[in-house]
Order: sequence, then C-alpha cells, then structure tokens
Amino acid sequence: MNKNIDWSSLGFGYVPTEYRFVSNYKNGEWDEGGLTTDSNIVLNECAGVFQYAQTIFEGLKAYRTVDGHIVTFRPDLNASRLKDSAVRLRIPPYDEAKFVEAVKQVVLANEDMVPPYGSGASLYIRPYMMGTNPVIGVKPADEYQFRIFTTPVGPYFKGGCKPISIRVCDYDRAAPHGTGNIKAGLNYAMSLYAIVEAHELGFDENMYLDAATRTKVEETGGANFIFVTKDNKLVTPKSNSILPSITRRSLMVVAKEYLGMEVEEREVYFDEVKDFAECGLCGTAAVISPVGRINDHGKDIFLPSGMEEMGPVCTKLRETLTGIQMGTIKAPEGWICTIK
Ligand code: PLP
Ligand code: COI
Repeated sequence: MNKNIDWSSLGFGYVPTEYRFVSNYKNGEWDEGGLTTDSNIVLNECAGVFQYAQTIFEGLKAYRTVDGHIVTFRPDLNASRLKDSAVRLRIPPYDEAKFVEAVKQVVLANEDMVPPYGSGASLYIRPYMMGTNPVIGVKPADEYQFRIFTTPVGPYFKGGCKPISIRVCDYDRAAPHGTGNIKAGLNYAMSLYAIVEAHELGFDENMYLDAATRTKVEETGGANFIFVTKDNKLVTPKSNSILPSITRRSLMVVAKEYLGMEVEEREVYFDEVKDFAECGLCGTAAVISPVGRINDHGKDIFLPSGMEEMGPVCTKLRETLTGIQMGTIKAPEGWICTIK
C-alpha cells in the first residue's frame, strides 16, 4: 500500500493513480481496450464532447474489507446505468460484462491506492465515455472513447458525518422528459452556477424541486434524498427526472430487510419536509450525509436530528451499508464483487 498518503485526511479530490483503462469505438465497434499510464486525452478541437457535450459517466468505489480483500459494490448496476445513459445520448453502449471486467482490471492495477480498512477513505472509480471525432452539425459522433480512472477519496462533504445546510434552489437541474434520470455531464454543467451560488451563500448543497410544479422534492446536484418519518418509515422521492441512485436503491433494501423498517418510494411534497425526523443525502460519494437545515427562501427548517450529529436512523443505515461494503455485515447475494 502506498506509504506516502495520509488516508484519513483525504477529501474528495483528484489524486492521480498510475493506471487507467481505455477503449475506443471506431467503424461500428469497441476495441479490446487496455490499461495505459497516460492521464491525458488529446482530441480534435471539434470533437463531439467539446461542441455538444456528448459525454456520460459513472461513479463507484473500491473498498478494502476487514479480512483484507478488495471489493466493489454492485458494479453491475453501474454497467447497466451507463448503458441507459449511452442509449439516451446516442452513444454506442459498452458491453456490461466487459465494463465490470474493466473496473476490476483498473482497480487491481492501482491496488496500492486502495485505502486501508478503517481509514474512512476508498478508491473512487470514474468510468466515462465521450464523442471523440469532429462533429459540427448537431448530431452524435461516430467515434467514442470509454475510459476509467481511479482516485483515492475521503468524505464528499467536509466534516464527514456532521449535518450540512442546504437551500431550496430556484434553478432547475432537469426537466420532465429531459435527462435527469441519466448520468450525463450536461446535468452537472446545469448545476454549476447554482452550486457556486449556494456555497457563496453559506450552503453546502442545493435542493432541487420538480421543474414543472416546484412543489415536489427531487434531489441535490450529486445525491438522492432519504427522509425518515417520526414513526420510523424511510421515505424517498420517486421521480422520472432524478438519477436512480444505486446507494438509495440499496438503502431501501437495507432499511426493509436489515432494519425492519417500512419503506416508501413516492412523490414527496416540499410541504411535508418540515414534518420529517431526519433527512439525508445518499450516493456513492455522499454515502449518507445528514442534512440538519433546509433553507427555503430565507426561512429555515431545522430537522429534529439537529446540527451536531447524524440522526439515529441515518446512523444505523450508514453503519449497515458500510458494514456490508467492508465485509463486517453479510451482504445480500450478488452485492459484493470481489476483485482480490
Ligand atoms: N444523484 C446524482 C445527481 C448523482 O450525481 C449521484 C451520484 O452518483 C447520485 C444521485 C447517487 O447515485 P449513486 O448512489 O448511484 O452513486
Ligand atoms: C457519485 O456519487 O459517484 C457522483 O457522481 C456524485 C458527484 C461526485 C457528482
């Protein structure tokens, strides 16, 4: 293991690792692909990715388990979501089994950068695809590149499990029938103005409401919402314009099967938010980050769980999920993909 890194002080930033996976699509097919040490991409100035933002990505993590294995969590779901994103942006999909093999290959090649068990850090894996050949009329590219790089990361929000403050955002991230349900770079470009503004105003994230009626909770710029009711139900927003978070889908199973909770995936009206006991953001990067305060145009809603620590249910959910990921709690069949 790399001895020059202070794993427990890592934030969520880019630390280059030695190897990345690259495969190219040309003349109607993806090549075999393989590892490279070159972190730079040289493309034509008119490449589809630069002109019309034809790019999609994924995010997952590799963990070192309590008994010394290196694993990833449900990479088959990332493979399938990347395929859905590709279809929506007219990118030729990458074979799902080969995706999982490529993830394993690149993690194994960067094995020394998988943080130690118990450090709180993990190796973030970023697969992505882009249109590479020149495109000037508005149309999909004919040639593409698929890459996967890895970077060791700590908590997404400074302070780790300390509750964050968010604000209701007046900008929309995704439209009905738009691209909010896939992982396209363009969705994140849409959110940049709003996140900088939120940070300038002292908030950690934006709560986006549904663009059509502005009455329902959607998600944040990089995570889905979970809420806990005062009678201990897990409630999570259902919408066609949010990303189908793998963490959220897993937490619904954890809540039901491991914690015996009732789970509701349904439309969540913003008006209900003041009545919940706990609120959390969930995602690969966010894991579960507790929300303590939601500011609605100057008016604060404080969750009863407070601003000091994560609420009891979010804590249990987080401990169970991370226990499953790091091998201290038995995982449901097929959730853990052992790399080594
Ligand atoms: N929503 C958005 C907008 C995201 O970027 C992410 C991160 O991937 C998520 C939700 C959480 O998804 P997952 O749990 O699959 O990482
Ligand atoms: C992830 O959680 O993997 C994400 O992609 C969220 C964020 C870093 C954009």
